[in-house]
Amino acid sequence: MNTESFLQQRLICVAVIDHADDAVPLAEALLAGGLNCIEVTFRTASAAEAIKRIRTALPSAIVGAGTLLTPYQVQQAVAAGAQFGVSPGLNEAVISAAATSGLPLFPGIMTPTEVDRALNLKCKYLKFFPAEAAGGVAMLKALAGPFGHTGVKFIPTGGITATTLPNYLAVPQVAAVGGSWMAERKLVAEKAWSKITTLTAEAMKVVAAAKA
Ligand code: 3PG
Repeated sequence: MNTESFLQQRLICVAVIDHADDAVPLAEALLAGGLNCIEVTFRTASAAEAIKRIRTALPSAIVGAGTLLTPYQVQQAVAAGAQFGVSPGLNEAVISAAATSGLPLFPGIMTPTEVDRALNLKCKYLKFFPAEAAGGVAMLKALAGPFGHTGVKFIPTGGITATTLPNYLAVPQVAAVGGSWMAERKLVAEKAWSKITTLTAEAMKVVAAAKA
């Protein structure tokens, strides 16, 4: 599967999983809401195990590893079966480790200089982070000006909600949008699976409207 296929649904649920036992029920709740793509962040000790369990139990899920800050985490993510990786910043050691492992990586950028560096490092899919705090859709459109013709694709993430989602999806250079609002850490900790399914289904309706 290539990156375009991973991002076909145009939405990534960014999740913080404190207990690996919550991983499969969470992914099932997202799938029930119509979303197959989840990014499990390496912010907890359970991340690698969570990725492994989802990959084993739910072949239809597309599972990424987020918050990759070190080459070692890239190795852990690959060993767990992650299909893509995401970093908050532009870390050349992480980019290089991902390239060596064949893991598609979406590094974080928020300035023209960082977009330029990322393109020179052969990264085409870039996480625009923190999207809302960095200027939101207006900033994204401004970045797309001088870089749009390069084929760069953005994955805005950070502070986005179902309300602001359509504005991001309307930007031609946006491949997908990332966010945690469908499955906030608290909802996962509370095992609020049906609430997560409802929020996901709402988000997928917004995506469907944007595609139409
Ligand atoms: C992340 O933590 O990678 C994203 O910023 C998630 O952002 P959100 O929690 O604001 O959606």
